Amino acid sequence: MSYPFSMKINMKERDFLISPSILSADFTQLGDQIQRAEQAGADWIHVDVMDGHFVPNISMGPFIVEACRRATDLPLDVHLMIEKPERYLENFISAGADYLTVHIETCPEMDRILSRIQELGCKAGITLNPATAVDKIEPFLKLADLVLVMSVQPGHSGQSFLSETLPKISWLRNKIDEIKPEVLLEVDGGINPETIRDAYDRGARVFVAASAIFNHPQGIQAGFDSLLERLRG
Ligand code: DX5
Ligand code: ZN
Repeated sequence: MSYPFSMKINMKERDFLISPSILSADFTQLGDQIQRAEQAGADWIHVDVMDGHFVPNISMGPFIVEACRRATDLPLDVHLMIEKPERYLENFISAGADYLTVHIETCPEMDRILSRIQELGCKAGITLNPATAVDKIEPFLKLADLVLVMSVQPGHSGQSFLSETLPKISWLRNKIDEIKPEVLLEVDGGINPETIRDAYDRGARVFVAASAIFNHPQGIQAGFDSLLERLRG
């Protein structure tokens, strides 16, 4: 296993990144919540975009990405759970996305979409639902900057981690190390102090967490620290 990004993109001497998802933030105080996450030590901010078609829920669009951009200089990690994402790449990138991740289930021409995202100056990610076979990702690995394993059915925060997705993380860790070691391997859904270590041990190095950070009873810093402790312990 290699960690080519550990020193380069992270000044905190960690070999992993934490990307708090604002889906569980208090939207009456979004800027403040993002700044608290940043002060707690967040590496990125994760923005979950849902269209009511690909997933039943409707969440946020480019306006919110633009608001996040004004609230922080941290990289914005934008997860598009939408049909026909190719219609909106420019909108999200001009709003300030640094990483734009699209679902393999929505992209029959994945190679073209990844290239387009990169041409627009953004990093390109691929993700897949828990029920989708992981080997569908392989043909596109060499084109991607990031691969995201969904460890819950996309659509809501606060769900339980699906441990049957752990073998996908191991499989992708091996493939990434073989094909393109600089690809970041991210996991999203049900990440909390009980589950984060298993995902790390399988090879994930970027962790999305919404409820474990923003809904922690002692606040955002305590939620963030509870994740860090499990990775350091
Ligand atoms: C789920 C979203 C996740 C979600 C994670 O559809 O993609 O990013 O916000 O929420 P938690 O961490 O609470 O499972
Ligand atoms: Zn997400």
